[in-house]
Amino acid sequence: MSKINFPKDFIWGSATAAYQIEGAYNEDGKGESIWDRFSHTPGNIENGHNGDIACDHYHRYEEDIKIMKEIGLKSYRFSISWPRIFPEGTGQLNQKGLDFYKRLTNMLLENGIMPAITLYHWDLPQKLQDKGGWKNRDTTDYFTEYCEAIFKSLGDIVPMWITHNEPRVVALLGHFLGIHAPGIKDLRTSLEVSHNILLSHGKTVKLFREMNIDAQIGIALNLSHHYPVSEKPEDIAAAELSFSIAGRWYLDPLFKGCYPEDALEYYKKKGIELSFPQDDLKLISQPIDFLAFNNYSSDIIQYDPSDESGFSFAESILDKFEKTDMGWIIYPEGLYDLLMLLDRDYGKPNLIISENGAAFKDEISSSGRIEDTKRIQYLKSYLTQAHRAIQDGVNLKGYYLWSLMDNFEWSFGYNKRFGIVHVNFETQERKIKDSGYWYKEVIKNNGF
Ligand code: FCB
Repeated sequence: MSKINFPKDFIWGSATAAYQIEGAYNEDGKGESIWDRFSHTPGNIENGHNGDIACDHYHRYEEDIKIMKEIGLKSYRFSISWPRIFPEGTGQLNQKGLDFYKRLTNMLLENGIMPAITLYHWDLPQKLQDKGGWKNRDTTDYFTEYCEAIFKSLGDIVPMWITHNEPRVVALLGHFLGIHAPGIKDLRTSLEVSHNILLSHGKTVKLFREMNIDAQIGIALNLSHHYPVSEKPEDIAAAELSFSIAGRWYLDPLFKGCYPEDALEYYKKKGIELSFPQDDLKLISQPIDFLAFNNYSSDIIQYDPSDESGFSFAESILDKFEKTDMGWIIYPEGLYDLLMLLDRDYGKPNLIISENGAAFKDEISSSGRIEDTKRIQYLKSYLTQAHRAIQDGVNLKGYYLWSLMDNFEWSFGYNKRFGIVHVNFETQERKIKDSGYWYKEVIKNNGF
């Protein structure tokens, strides 16, 4: 196979999130987050795991940055824990919390690694949840207050900002299915939450521009390509509708200033009539510098009159695919098709893959190596498709591998390992996996 070369200046990164790695859940004045509360409530997380210690990154960030340097990362995407900065969500700032992120950021810069900050990766201060959380419109102002404090202290040294990580997952898993914090199960609430999160994004972008910050800002959506299970018109229509609900519900407000009609219609049939103030949509659709998205898999959809939504995931066909340890199908062409769709339908935006990677059960060989060949295969195949899209004219600027290290995988606890660095959660020992060494070569050669 001929060599795959990425464009000069392509951003090679890796990503994590505060609650998944930091630990130190109640140190140095940090307030309780909804994930602390949720994981401390029995029955929510596999094996009763929680993020109290996680990878203990709060105390071991120096060692972790050395590992990043060893791998040769050009950029590191991490998130800030809001309740570390504002234990009550609003009001009194906790300087010690802010200082941690200053130390982290400065050390990254000293090592030539570009920090990319996600402002919200799901750990809302519990105190704000007590006031209604994201359902409460005031939370959008508390969010911008928190962001302002961060911009004031890190705005002039951090080149890349992401307001939110995966608003759909917060809305759907956190407020409709109830399997993520805060564990609410209500469709209307989930739709209001989704809107308020987008609104808080818009308000923050506005603030960012007003503060004249010389950096880039965007948002990270979770997106996958939706395929009809067959060429039958009803399957095609089902796949289109399901993508409107899962993808365009976020993309259209951001890029077109409106919600997709077919999805509005769909909710109307469920008895939920939604209308949002035009001013909100103006705020939400302010230009962003890049669209980031997380992509792991693809969805195959079938028309299904027996399901109340009229469609369902085509489970029967999934056996034909290889899957990761999450049960997610491996279909790298889905990344290519998604990149082409975003490019075509949303005006050729600058794109960043803010997460891509795979969970597999790792085994440590007798020589002590972690020979995660399946992960390498996965990464190679997805990167090949990303490269193909760039060749076809897509403005893809960077790639963040999920994840730098094994960590707390939300409701699955520590049972799913996504890292290119192995973490022994008993001893906190880190060990670079074969995939980490492979990625090091990719970065060094700007391809493979
Ligand atoms: C994404 C999340 C990230 C991680 C990966 C596997 O949905 O953004 O925190 O859990 O999935």
